[in-house]
Amino acid sequence: MPSFTITPMTGHTGAEVIGLDFTQPIDAETRATLNQAFAEHHVLVMRDQHFSPPEFKQAAQVFGALQQHDKKETFVPGHPDVYYVSNDQIVNGKRIIPGETFHTDHSNHPAPPKATTLFAVELPSSGGDTQYVNMHDAYDDLLADLKARIDGLRAVHVYLSKYSPRSLGTLTEESRQNLPPPGIHPLVRTHADNGRKALYLNPVRMEAIEGMPDEDALALIDQLMRHATQKKYEYRHQWRHGDWVIWDNRSVMHQANPDYDMNERRFLYRLMLKGEVPV
Ligand SMILES: [Fe+2]
Repeated sequence: MPSFTITPMTGHTGAEVIGLDFTQPIDAETRATLNQAFAEHHVLVMRDQHFSPPEFKQAAQVFGALQQHDKKETFVPGHPDVYYVSNDQIVNGKRIIPGETFHTDHSNHPAPPKATTLFAVELPSSGGDTQYVNMHDAYDDLLADLKARIDGLRAVHVYLSKYSPRSLGTLTEESRQNLPPPGIHPLVRTHADNGRKALYLNPVRMEAIEGMPDEDALALIDQLMRHATQKKYEYRHQWRHGDWVIWDNRSVMHQANPDYDMNERRFLYRLMLKGEVPV
């Protein structure tokens, strides 16, 4: 049994894992402990890792099965199934910073990925934090009448909502043709592993709430977003070299920060893990 520690980063979200080298085989007991910690803390930060793209793929599977990305053209050169996020894409003269507003990943899928994971390859000298907000606590704190109002509501999640607060990078025609049908998901979902309810929101992709005029749907989503993104629900990750971070898309929303010198490069490997149909 390797010796390692799991230390919470806040009272609600995030834990730091120190003392494991994920290029080495992870035994069943350690794997179970890590998955238990993931269900409890929602964001895990494994420090001091050194991954080649295949090693990163191998390590990610400690937490589940890999899921392909919609944007198939954005892969690490030579590794078509290892994706990346970077600050070097410019569309129509405007730099695209992936994940710049709070969201949950790929919620346009009927069975969205349960987790997303990043490994820091190049980081700016300061800034570029990733923020996470805890959607279990945000749900728990809602007043009873609002819980009753949203219970049973379902939202339509498309690749890019006409109401999205930001654009996404361009898709090739091939990637566009391979998009799944819209995901139609409850506003409140129950986590398959920890049993807790959570708000499930994504203004980038939510285009409608079933049975509700768009104007009312947008007002409700805005109200829930303002509630859920309060600082008291946040864990803000400051990236260090060697950080491998995984988060639970069923438990947290996340956003990136374009607050660093864009002459510096930010480049992280990115993988997602298969999830279940939200209920
Ligand atoms: Fe994201």
